Amino acid sequence: MDKRFYVTTPIYYVNAEPHIGHAYTTILADFLKRHHTLMGYDSYFLTGTDEHGDKIVKAAAEAGARPKEYTDRISSLFRETWQKMGLGFDDFIRTTEERHRKVVQSVLQKVYDDGDIYFASYGGHYCFGCERFFTEKDMVDGKCPDHNKPLEYIEESNYFFRMSKYQAWLVEYIKSHPDFIRPERYRNEVLAMLEGEALEDLCISRPKTRLEWGITLPFDDKFVTYVWFDALINYVSAIGYPDDEKFKRYWPVVNHLIAKDIVKPHGIFWPTMLKAAGIEPFLHLNVHGYWNMEDAKMSKSLGNVVRPLELIDRFGNDQIRYFFLREMNFGADARFTEEAIINRINYDLANDFGNLVKRTFDMVKKFFDGGIPALDTAQTAGRDALLAGFQEALAAYTAHVESFQFSVGIEKLWEFIRLLNRYIDERKPWQLAKEHKTAELSSTMRNLLESIAAIVVILSPVLNRTAPVVLAALGLPENTPLSSVSSLDALTTGKKLGEMGVLYPRIEKEKPPSAEPPQKTPKPADEGLIDISEFARVDIRVAQVIEASAVEGSDKLLELRVDAGADTRTIIAGLALHYRPEYLVGKKILLVANLKPAVLFKRTSHGMLLAAKKEKKDRPVLIEVSDDIPVGAKLS
Ligand code: MSP
Repeated sequence: MDKRFYVTTPIYYVNAEPHIGHAYTTILADFLKRHHTLMGYDSYFLTGTDEHGDKIVKAAAEAGARPKEYTDRISSLFRETWQKMGLGFDDFIRTTEERHRKVVQSVLQKVYDDGDIYFASYGGHYCFGCERFFTEKDMVDGKCPDHNKPLEYIEESNYFFRMSKYQAWLVEYIKSHPDFIRPERYRNEVLAMLEGEALEDLCISRPKTRLEWGITLPFDDKFVTYVWFDALINYVSAIGYPDDEKFKRYWPVVNHLIAKDIVKPHGIFWPTMLKAAGIEPFLHLNVHGYWNMEDAKMSKSLGNVVRPLELIDRFGNDQIRYFFLREMNFGADARFTEEAIINRINYDLANDFGNLVKRTFDMVKKFFDGGIPALDTAQTAGRDALLAGFQEALAAYTAHVESFQFSVGIEKLWEFIRLLNRYIDERKPWQLAKEHKTAELSSTMRNLLESIAAIVVILSPVLNRTAPVVLAALGLPENTPLSSVSSLDALTTGKKLGEMGVLYPRIEKEKPPSAEPPQKTPKPADEGLIDISEFARVDIRVAQVIEASAVEGSDKLLELRVDAGADTRTIIAGLALHYRPEYLVGKKILLVANLKPAVLFKRTSHGMLLAAKKEKKDRPVLIEVSDDIPVGAKLS
């Protein structure tokens, strides 16, 4: 078969904004797509949003919006976040789209016609958070173990999918396809669920009297489809099941990516649904562990930065991609801490890799006026060892990526990077220059530049923003194929190296707070207190941000256009280091409306928005106002 690769992420619930957990899986999918494309595969990457069900209706109600408006807004937020992070999905599916509804209904109809869906009355313990019934065995002290909330006993007539019928087939299929669910611990987990006891049939409908926000069953319009039965089908509806060429092309090579939280629906519901619908099983279900945030919460400065865009604003796009891919051992949980991020950036990116590139470029500038030196054939300066080192790293890396051991794979590339640093230390180009050994010097530098070109091309799926910068400085195009650099002879002699700036600035760790707290001077009892009439003079009201943009020439200020109820006005806010302008648009904030106008960077600010921080050095957190409070409402 020709080389093809199809990667999917879970479609994310729109009841919350994108956070770093979602970002990880989506970055991983983007990396895999880029890696496979580089390796000559025809690759396809799908992500999207899961928009039906009670959970979403509840979240919309809490936000004071209709489900449609609400899902539109949050779904766009996901899409835009991924776009701003340069994640190159080929399609973004929403379960509220017509193309999806049609496929879900046709699958339901087929399974119904084949007799695998039946109507029955059912009473059970239901968790509104998970949107599912729990068996006695799954609940813990009458509670849902994930939400730790008491389950509600509800009784209703519903449609059921005969999942039990496929239990034996699934066990057999998993046993005869060792890579169907990987890594092995999750395969074992699914087998344990299946072998423990008889699988129950799956309730796949919700009466419209209880929930309207869903896909209507094609054979009974008084019911909507259970959200999981609807959502899983995205993986085939997006690629045009059943007739589209895309479906025929990519379904046989699908790789699902999920975290361990949704192993059961993917490892049990999905394959049995596919079997019943007469669709081939998926190729691989790849399950990763969880990023544990506890430590992050404890770290003051990282505590608030769980929004992916804020995280990359603070540390850099490629730095976060590298951290995610290198730090997590696929399948196991990993710790998300500020210290771990900074160490990866400072040691691996700044020291090992950034420094290698910088040292090499600086020496070529110094000794050859920035022109790429020739390789003197009589004087190849240990080139064979570099070639062998590169081939070895490439083979080990590729094999590890194939088996989803990204962290080990990347480490293999770093072994080559460290070999190059040693090569510099051993060959001592500065010494060769002093001794006028020009041929040796020239070959040494050329070997280094060629090796850098090669490693940067392989690393480009990880470092998708900085790799093109280095390639351009070497005079190579962004999409340089691996085959043109892997023999270490891709560069043009005499061509001038370009500029790159600092690729990965070192990050200072936060200093621990000083042991001695500042002495407070005792104050008279009423000092600092104000009287109510003084407070009443301050006009604080709710305003909504309409537009937001950076103030040119200032890295700290943002210019905001706000609707303050009685008027629309411009304010200048010192939030640029902490918030992206797009984030602020649409937010309701608190505005001090009767402040004397102030001129900042030639712009007049008519008021001030309120943000808060615990200590002077902390980042200001914008005070956001609930959607229920109307614009223009005054604080009293
Ligand atoms: N809508 C369902 C999936 C339906 S797929 C047919 C859903 N959505 S979700 O928004 O809750 O996303 C869950 C997924 O987000 C996880 O499986 C994982 O990919 C990612 N993660 C969420 N939090 C995470 C961590 N803390 N760590 C790692 N991944 C995390 O479930």
